[in-house]
Amino acid sequence: MKSIFLTVVATGAWLMVNAQQKLPVYLDINKPIEERVENALSAMTTEEKVSLCYAQSKFSSKGVPRLGIPEVWTDDGPHGIREEVLWDEWGGAGWTNDSCTAFPALTCLSASFNPKLSLLYGKSIGEEARYRNKTVLLGPGINIYRTPLNGRNFEYLGEDPYLSSRMVVPYIQGVQSIGVAACVKHFALNNQEEWRGHINVDLSDRALYEIYLPAFKAAVQEGKAWSIMGAYNQFRGEHCCHNDLLLNKILKKDWKFDGVVISDWGGVHSTDQAVNNGLDLEMGTYTDGLTTKGKFPYSEYYLANPFLKGIKEGKYDIALLNDKARRILRLIFRTTMSANRPFGRFVSPEHSEAARKIAQEGIVLLKNDKQFFPVTNGKFKKIAVIGENADRSLVIGGGSSSLKVAYEKSPLDGLIAKYGKDHVVYSLGYASGPSMYGREEPSKLNADSLMNAAIEVAKDADVVFFIGGLNKNHFQDCEGGDRKSLSLPFGQDKLIDALLKANKNTAVVLLSGNAVSMPWVDKVPAIIQGWYLGSEAGSALADVISGEVNPSGKLPFSFPKKLEDNGAHFYGKISYPGDSINQYYKEDILVGYRWFDTKKIVPQYAFGYGLSYTSFNLGTLSADKSTYSKDEIIKVRFTVKNTGARYGAEVAQLYVNDPVCSVPRPVKELKAFEKVFLQPGEMKVVEMDVKVADFAFYDESKKDWNVEPGDFILQLGNSSNNISQKLKITVK
Ligand code: BGC
Repeated sequence: MKSIFLTVVATGAWLMVNAQQKLPVYLDINKPIEERVENALSAMTTEEKVSLCYAQSKFSSKGVPRLGIPEVWTDDGPHGIREEVLWDEWGGAGWTNDSCTAFPALTCLSASFNPKLSLLYGKSIGEEARYRNKTVLLGPGINIYRTPLNGRNFEYLGEDPYLSSRMVVPYIQGVQSIGVAACVKHFALNNQEEWRGHINVDLSDRALYEIYLPAFKAAVQEGKAWSIMGAYNQFRGEHCCHNDLLLNKILKKDWKFDGVVISDWGGVHSTDQAVNNGLDLEMGTYTDGLTTKGKFPYSEYYLANPFLKGIKEGKYDIALLNDKARRILRLIFRTTMSANRPFGRFVSPEHSEAARKIAQEGIVLLKNDKQFFPVTNGKFKKIAVIGENADRSLVIGGGSSSLKVAYEKSPLDGLIAKYGKDHVVYSLGYASGPSMYGREEPSKLNADSLMNAAIEVAKDADVVFFIGGLNKNHFQDCEGGDRKSLSLPFGQDKLIDALLKANKNTAVVLLSGNAVSMPWVDKVPAIIQGWYLGSEAGSALADVISGEVNPSGKLPFSFPKKLEDNGAHFYGKISYPGDSINQYYKEDILVGYRWFDTKKIVPQYAFGYGLSYTSFNLGTLSADKSTYSKDEIIKVRFTVKNTGARYGAEVAQLYVNDPVCSVPRPVKELKAFEKVFLQPGEMKVVEMDVKVADFAFYDESKKDWNVEPGDFILQLGNSSNNISQKLKITVK
């Protein structure tokens, strides 16, 4: 008996030692990732390498089952973790465990001008993705806000490359700190949805490098994003998912990106180009079957059998395959097979709190005559809430970012919770149709009856909150189509006028991801821009409206008075939306406030603008020296004082102007900002480090960045159109 026991123990020990000795390097989580990648690669067949490069289902791709290397599971992004869909179809899989927390849309995050909240956002959504066992989160989206008609602006970070860069980096770091890869999208120039699948965008190199690439560069070099998604559109004659200039030259060579280029779903069009022009993982190409049953199974994807065949025939260099496989293995070792992969959590109170905080800080107060807001509890007996967005789900719709949520507090829920149900009366006022992807469906309700009912409610109330805006329907804030005009849809302008006649104490709250025209702007006493705020929408809005939270958001994009005032629309069709084949960005580097300022066009509301319930004063701007060399850092200093009676936050914004230059330059460009939180009467000293190198323009003649010596004017303000201090410095 004794000897048998000893033998068993001995065999077990031998097995353990042997197992340890034989543990292949790629499975050893303590070994450096590059060593593991090389080791795994050397153990793989050509077929196995190719099978890493294309989808096996709507949202996943194969691992290497024989070697224990797991599959890659992706999911949208960017505002919450999308529900599970069927293996081979877009429809929901009907799981009961996948209702997520909806975080505010990225426009709201950007409006907070608070990179710390970006980190919180990234960590929180990363934890939700991790809990759901996702490898890659398909977000954040960082395409520049070029036109207010773009149906997907709500998924992006606004019009300014510097603001987008500062906000995207912590988001990525947050997501990836949980062992989930961020997938930054859509690289690049996917600035409209109209004809997104084929429109061939061209623009100057300056506009490309100064406006449309910086946030992607920051995402790669500072955020160290582990994956990036190619865009649907073409750029200079090649689709962006296999675009030699964008992917091979800029992304992989110049920026040294070592992650995975993932195609947008269905964005691949050619095996030759996909193989040669920098794509690594092909997703979403049309398929009608799982394996061999259909005519177009996954194994017939561009990077599947046709790629394998090309390798075997010597048409494609094996080095290209090894490079793709290496990148995908690296992503797997950084995520699913990493030692640094904390556990996630899903729909936790901390995530609700994060969603609420981000929403509170992103809400922008645009107008507040005679201190209309805050409407404190008890101030009015009867509050009329009017408008569909007060009570409509705004997490559903919009395309791929649509969410199945654990809960969504509507504005109406939030206001009732704040003021009590006896004090709040609701009337729909107007109606849109149901949320349909890819088509418009008008409401069956009668517009006049809705309006008349709302007018009666408004007449009888002490105060009216009109809560409208856009929604996530097709041709609104929705993927796959652009808006048809700048106007508010569904008869809202007419309704607002009628409400004002019925009750002049009517404020407008807009929930949208885009600017809208405001023909009633001078007539309404107060306006709030409320974005799409996610699960905690109602709580956050009610917090701001009631004054429990002092608004501190600033617009991340300009609101034009009319569409033609916007740079992208000034030059006609070829500039937007293109002639259906080609498009040229004629406004060049003058995007957003750069256009308004330089062309001296007054916007309705400017980039960086937003009011508070308190007031602030920005003190004298000074710098550590007056003359700098090109590689120096300017140490800028000033004070911010809360001169009002409430706790609040101001966003100090530092812009720069280069008055004399060999090329045209915008009147001002954002180079630094800081959100400063202050008690009433409190003053803080703010110090900012600004690199002289950041004053450079992209010099097309040198194909490089260039700071021309001379004077530069630093401009400090609390919005792009409210500069209170200027300081001249000289660059040698
Ligand atoms: C969108 C992507 C999204 C993908 C997967 C595409 O239509 O453009 O942003 O991640 O679908 O849903």
